[in-house]
Amino acid sequence: MAQREKLLEIKNLKQYFNEGKVNEVKAVDNVSFEIFKGEVMGLVGESGCGKSTTGRTIIRLYDATGGEVLYDGVNVHGKKSKKQLKDFNRKMQMIFQDPYASLNPRLKIADVIAEGIDIHGLAKTKQERMEQVYELLETVGLNREHANRYPHEFSGGQRQRIGIARALAVQPEFIIADEPISALDVSIQAQVVNLMK
Ligand SMILES: Nc1ncnc2c1ncn2[C@@H]1O[C@H](COP(=O)(O)OP(=O)(O)OP(=O)(O)O)[C@@H](O)[C@H]1O
Ligand SMILES: [Mg+2]
Repeated sequence: MAQREKLLEIKNLKQYFNEGKVNEVKAVDNVSFEIFKGEVMGLVGESGCGKSTTGRTIIRLYDATGGEVLYDGVNVHGKKSKKQLKDFNRKMQMIFQDPYASLNPRLKIADVIAEGIDIHGLAKTKQERMEQVYELLETVGLNREHANRYPHEFSGGQRQRIGIARALAVQPEFIIADEPISALDVSIQAQVVNLMK
């Protein structure tokens, strides 16, 4: 059997909110796990046990209170140069639980999806940028006519597809999906699961 390559290693991760105060919450307390390349891992637990906080802390939406996050053997928390952070932000993407709250309502879908393409300079021309947007829309089962619409003009399932297209736009190596189907109709859940596979 081929050697399994380690992609992500979480060591003793801690995320305490309001540390040291009376309202301190130990949302993540000493969590360790590993994820190997090509692997899908599920994190399961009761409401409020810290699943979302674990994901958010891994992608650095929060600074970890303690512990280490090693990506390809490199600690991605702590002091990093702008370039290191940018590289890391491209490799790791997150799809959020709530498709209503996670899309900027003032941006057209083309610009929502292309934001990462722009930040990371992944398209050389405007035309190339739009071609990538169209291809991503089609990948997630939408179509190019949707590019000029705003988030409120879509259903919940369609918005979640847009969230997935946005995550895929920067060709990430690793995706954290935080209950990406729990806000969706049962009839649409299967479609989105198939899409992610
Ligand atoms: N920004 C924050 N400030 C203070 N406490 C927070 C913050 N975010 C989350 N918490 C608390 O941390 C704990 C873990 O929350 P988290 O959202 O990670 O849970 P979860 O496992 O994702 O739950 P669910 O299944 O309901 O999504 C909860 O007690 C929550 O109230
Ligand atoms: Mg959650």
